[in-house]
Amino acid sequence: MKSFFLDQDIKEICENLQDDIKFLENKTIFIAGVAGFLGRYFLETLNQTNLVNGSNIKIIGVDNFVSSGLLGEYIESYDEKWFSFKKLDLSKLQSFDIKDNIDFVVHAAGIASPAQYKLRPMQTFDVAINGSKSLLELAKLKNSRYIFFSSSEIYGDPDLQNIPVKESYKGYVSSMGPRSCYDESKRAGETLAYVYNNYEDVHTNVIRPFNVFGPGMQKTDYRVMPNFAFNAKEGRSLEVYGSGKQTRTYCYITDAITGFIKVFLHGISGEAYNIGNPEPEVSALELANIFVDVHPREVNVQIKEYPDNYPEDEPSRRCPSIQKAIDDLNYKPIVKLKDGVSRLINWVEEF
Ligand SMILES: NC(=O)c1ccc[n+]([C@@H]2O[C@H](COP(=O)([O-])OP(=O)(O)OC[C@H]3O[C@@H](n4cnc5c(N)ncnc54)[C@H](O)[C@@H]3O)[C@@H](O)[C@H]2O)c1
Repeated sequence: MKSFFLDQDIKEICENLQDDIKFLENKTIFIAGVAGFLGRYFLETLNQTNLVNGSNIKIIGVDNFVSSGLLGEYIESYDEKWFSFKKLDLSKLQSFDIKDNIDFVVHAAGIASPAQYKLRPMQTFDVAINGSKSLLELAKLKNSRYIFFSSSEIYGDPDLQNIPVKESYKGYVSSMGPRSCYDESKRAGETLAYVYNNYEDVHTNVIRPFNVFGPGMQKTDYRVMPNFAFNAKEGRSLEVYGSGKQTRTYCYITDAITGFIKVFLHGISGEAYNIGNPEPEVSALELANIFVDVHPREVNVQIKEYPDNYPEDEPSRRCPSIQKAIDDLNYKPIVKLKDGVSRLINWVEEF
């Protein structure tokens, strides 16, 4: 099976992390959602670290493959002695029978694609709530650090004075709407992390990723980056929904994983961190035009109504302040948007 990442990307993450890698030596990391886009990059980064530096990092992974498609097969056939895997549904409360010590419990399971969570609102909600409760109990039992993958979506649709959005912004979110099962469950997942940090003595961190993209995203994901890249590959127009004026920032996967691992290692107890690349903030139409510029073949752009499988009410702007991650974690994204888009296109074209 073709690789779900680029070797060069994994090396780049390890170079970015430099001395931080040492803090992971001999550690055991439990990853929920290990078959997902981010989960697989963690797996490969830590694999590379084991191979090159003999770091002896162990990984225990769980996933139920609800949104991983083919990738379930990849994870189940992943044959490394430092990796163990169990198929498990975290939308139901779970207790774990694990003998090993665990240093980090990472909750990266979720239904992240709007098209996918529109189909499964209850499971989307429950994986953040019941999944968080089960994994926080595990972290408490094992005295591990706990890291919850929340989302920039917890900010909802911020007013202009609050953009770039800081972690202290409380959000402007609908509790009853087509996106609420995702947004509100992430907010409740954050509350659970806060409660266990303050009342149960578990060191917790919350990560709010801002539109991470890269190789390994699937065609069936329907988030804008894989959507554009697969449409272009298959000779279809890039479809821009609505006015095309809604803006986002995009963070290439190598910068994102670097930032995430810095939170695992150096996040201040109880704190939330925005991880993303604040520049440039581009409209959907501008992003489509970047694809047109960098794609090796001619590509057309078409403005369309939102399709039925896409939940309405999307935020008009999304742009992070990453000052806190710069100050606390020495985090700095480096991959330019055009370069990241090119790398994604190259991978999709060969996939
Ligand atoms: N990638 C991004 O840009 C981004 C942005 C914001 C938030 N996040 C969050 O980060 C996490 C990882 O994102 P991703 O891009 O890797 O998403 P992904 O959909 O590629 O991976 C998530 C994984 O979680 C698994 N999962 C879902 N429900 C489960 C359940 N009930 N039990 C067990 N496993 C379950 C899926 O099968 C999948 O393999 C998600 O929680 C997502 O909400 C990601």
